[in-house]
Amino acid sequence: MKRIAIFASGNGSNAQAITEFSNHRNSHFSVALIVSDNADAGVLNRADRLETPAFVIPRKELGSADTLALLHQYQIDIIVLAGYLGLIPLTLLEVYRGKILNIHPALLPEHGGKGMYGEYVHRSVLEQGDKESGITIHIIDAEYDRGQILCQVRCRVEPNDTPQALAMRIHRLEHIYYPVVINDFVERL
Ligand code: GRF
Repeated sequence: MKRIAIFASGNGSNAQAITEFSNHRNSHFSVALIVSDNADAGVLNRADRLETPAFVIPRKELGSADTLALLHQYQIDIIVLAGYLGLIPLTLLEVYRGKILNIHPALLPEHGGKGMYGEYVHRSVLEQGDKESGITIHIIDAEYDRGQILCQVRCRVEPNDTPQALAMRIHRLEHIYYPVVINDFVERL
């Protein structure tokens, strides 16, 4: 059984889906910790309801010895980014090399990179007139939205889609596939 820490900056619907998957099924991982860089993030209320330990760590302290000690204390094997908006410091990338996963709400390498998050991604897809979008789950490295892709799932872009409608369709895919891909990943470690 691997122990994961989820890093999230916002609403936390993926963090919840991943935690529920680990609670209710015969999964190969448990969610030991949730970390946010935002004291007002919805993910912290969800962590409370899910009875999962949660900590707020300012971005500039994410690479600190204290953070590493916390991850060590909770015996974290893998870090899962679920809407975490900061860049992961090199110290963490080194300690957790090849063991930090991310999800992006589009088909990378399109619509990725710095500043491409949330609604900006969906607006970019619609402005470019793409016929399909989807999700990308990948291992992270030192740059935004790069690193080995583990899974991509596609969905249609409808002619009258708004960024909000597309976001909803993509969130549904994320909640189904992210927990399963994490589970496969930890099983093969
Ligand atoms: C998701 O769309 C994910 O792809 C992106 O950030 C969003 C987080 O949503 N990286 P939520 O906070 O899990 O609801």
